[in-house]
Amino acid sequence: MHAEADISQDNNRDRLTRGGFMRAAVVSAGAVGALGAGGVSLGVPRARAARPGPGSRYPLFLPAERSPVGLVLTEAPGTADLGGGKLSNVWAYNGSFPGPTLRARSGDRATITLVNGLPQETITHWHGMLVDDVNDGHPRFAVGPGGTYSYDFPVNQRACLNWYHPHPHMLTGEQVNLGLAGAFIVNDTQEAALGLPAGAYEVPLIVRDATLDRGGNLEYRPRNGGFEGKIPLVNGTVDPYLEVDTALYRFRLLNGANARIFGLALGNGASFTLIGNDGGLLAAPVPLTRIDVAPAERLDLLVDFRGMPVGTRVMLRDLRAGWDLLEFRVARQVNVPAAIPATLSVIPTLSNPVTTRTFSFDGMSRINGKVYDLSRIDFEVPFGQTERWRFTTKGNAPHPVHVHGASFQVQSRTGGRGTTYPWEQGWKDTVLLEDGETVDILIRFNAYGGIYLIHCHKLEHEDMGMMANFKVV
Ligand code: C2O
Ligand code: CU
Ligand code: CU
Repeated sequence: MHAEADISQDNNRDRLTRGGFMRAAVVSAGAVGALGAGGVSLGVPRARAARPGPGSRYPLFLPAERSPVGLVLTEAPGTADLGGGKLSNVWAYNGSFPGPTLRARSGDRATITLVNGLPQETITHWHGMLVDDVNDGHPRFAVGPGGTYSYDFPVNQRACLNWYHPHPHMLTGEQVNLGLAGAFIVNDTQEAALGLPAGAYEVPLIVRDATLDRGGNLEYRPRNGGFEGKIPLVNGTVDPYLEVDTALYRFRLLNGANARIFGLALGNGASFTLIGNDGGLLAAPVPLTRIDVAPAERLDLLVDFRGMPVGTRVMLRDLRAGWDLLEFRVARQVNVPAAIPATLSVIPTLSNPVTTRTFSFDGMSRINGKVYDLSRIDFEVPFGQTERWRFTTKGNAPHPVHVHGASFQVQSRTGGRGTTYPWEQGWKDTVLLEDGETVDILIRFNAYGGIYLIHCHKLEHEDMGMMANFKVV
């Protein structure tokens, strides 16, 4: 693989100063120190990493739930206990790593004030939320240190797991990697009628990788066009466990990694039941023993612990890296009635595209030969028109391709793996493109006009310019 640029060098040394923005404070690559600008004051750096001894596992962190109605969301340096009680420097939403889990009902109106307590510019994007373009967190709306941005949008879409994360030009990888991400769950009445596991039986899982510095702090050091962390984190916890009842659980899983794909499986070889993905519930449940999930993709999974004796331990594993991700410990015998519905939802199918657009993901920084330009509109899409978009690449995959402004339906994958997968059914907003592959999707923008983005969600590729603006007209 040839290196087009080492963004750990270039991006951090030479941040662009763009129209009207204050130049961000200089941040050395990966530093998460006490950089001021409204951040939490941090103690003396710790001498040694907070790695657990062999065999120790720590309780899975569950972020607090918040309503997005009247919410103030601050991005700032802070500290987090990744497990074992030592505090690590991170960047956090409202002091929480991951950020609070936002939960709204379809029909609510989200009113959120973002406060930038970072030493560099930022803006937050609601990945998967159907919002108009001034609420989408486009990088042109980034605010400098101390700045604020007000969001106000109706939550008007089917039930699903979305997420929120920073989206400033060339700084997204660093900010997400240092801890800025959270779940955003939308509920609706159709979903409620299914009686899926809820309350303590519905657990968000943000799976990602990370590298800790010698002080045990999160460290961002991308290499060769992608960040590859040395350890997995689930909900910001190192080597986590979760005590479970003998019940059916619903796990809302997000791959929150910058660049890593996870091959999820249960250590006992049992199947889990896939019921949904990026855009909400599938038509019907699918039992699977392995799911490969790319950055920014979401999964809605049922795992059945009924019938397992108290004391049973089951590991959620990543078969790609050979990692243990999360240990389920069956701790309590209960008798909670629950059933896996035979059908979940009705998904209208897009069809009859009037045009085909091809997007070639080239090198590590270009789409159709062009590096992202914040102020260039690369193409226009007629409102309400169904189109076929074809994603291809000349190499440097994986490219998890993400589109803002609408969900899409995956039609086919030719070359490479040569097939589509059960977790690519229904509504998606991110699809994995591997080397040699061509992926066709159907998409229709029928919610809002305005400027949206298509980009590679390998965040280092995004930051290097593998992104384009388009306008729905
Ligand atoms: Cu999750 Cu444009 O991003
Ligand atoms: Cu998005
Ligand atoms: Cu890419």
